[in-house]
Amino acid sequence: MSEHVDKQQVMDALRTVMDPELGMDLVTLKMVRDVDIQDGVVRVTVTLTTPACPLKSTIEDDIKAAVGQLPGVRDVEVNFDADVATDKRIFGRLSLDVRNIIAVASGKGGVGKTTVAVNLAVALAQEGARVGILDADIYGPNVPLMLGLQGKRIAVRNGKMVPPEAYGVYAISIGFLVPPDTALIWRGPLLHSSIRQLFNDVDWPPLDYMIVDLPPGTGDAHLSLAQSVPVTGGIIVTTPQNVALMDARRGLVAFRELNVPVLGIIENMAGEIFGVGGGEAAARELKVPFLGRVPLDPTVREGSDSGVPVVVSHPDSPTAQAFRELARKVAASVSVLNFQPSVELKVI
Ligand SMILES: Nc1ncnc2c1ncn2[C@@H]1O[C@H](COP(=O)(O)OP(=O)(O)O)[C@@H](O)[C@H]1O
Ligand SMILES: [Mg+2]
Repeated sequence: MSEHVDKQQVMDALRTVMDPELGMDLVTLKMVRDVDIQDGVVRVTVTLTTPACPLKSTIEDDIKAAVGQLPGVRDVEVNFDADVATDKRIFGRLSLDVRNIIAVASGKGGVGKTTVAVNLAVALAQEGARVGILDADIYGPNVPLMLGLQGKRIAVRNGKMVPPEAYGVYAISIGFLVPPDTALIWRGPLLHSSIRQLFNDVDWPPLDYMIVDLPPGTGDAHLSLAQSVPVTGGIIVTTPQNVALMDARRGLVAFRELNVPVLGIIENMAGEIFGVGGGEAAARELKVPFLGRVPLDPTVREGSDSGVPVVVSHPDSPTAQAFRELARKVAASVSVLNFQPSVELKVI
């Protein structure tokens, strides 16, 4: 008779498998949801802190190696599900069931902030996360356009706006509240109450990630957002040009003043025309993580204009790949942030 493996042995083996980002083993992190053993075949179900985990295959390989070497194991199967880590400061605030709020900012307009916000949101949804996007850009509320929701009539249910959905992402825009040509008078109290309305008076479904597209610069919208909800992390979008440093610094200052932890800098439109590397150099100089770069690619613009984001229209292109990698990196950074004892103290 062959040797028999039991659940305890499997759990002991799983204690040697680390989550590389969280720096603890799967058992201590309570990530092992189920172990099933039949005729030497071990099936392990692991609950990740995000479905967009960049290290899924590393964790799978490590589990197979650790469990596979136990006597009596013929085969190891690994299944994943996810329970997205929660920013505990949001929990119980307002009437929202939103686990994380991620703000996307830039020092100036035209750098692709909305493009990045939309593709990140859709990429996260494609990985299986529950995602919403809140367009807070009074100067250019372009989220509806880029998601193909332009001109969509917003339904009202129980006195709340129902966010329309596109590509698995629920979206609401400040553009739905007031015509865009009133942007100039959108200062102070009106802007503040409108941003609060986008949280309170919208019938948001439960969300793992809410992406907020902020106006360029460091204006009132940043302040209103931070005063309305705890922001889990901020992302700064810049271009590769040599103004990137100045540009990114402006974005960084805004987040710092509001105690929003900075997840990092994204370099957009990298390529022959604008060059490569400005965003990365800015990240190094400003001592914040570099999240990655997105190439300058005409299909991105076509996608924005036609309301089909490039991660949907050209999912296999290097550009879509870059957005997916960014989405995973952002999701992983959020998980790491939520595992720190006090997010408030972790201001960069
Ligand atoms: N990586 C890219 N490659 C090509 N065009 C891009 C890229 N990112 C953005 N664009 C285009 O640049 C313009 C500005 O982008 P947008 O996201 O509206 O910028 P912002 O929100 O910062 O003002 C849009 O026409 C968009 O389609
Ligand atoms: Mg924009």
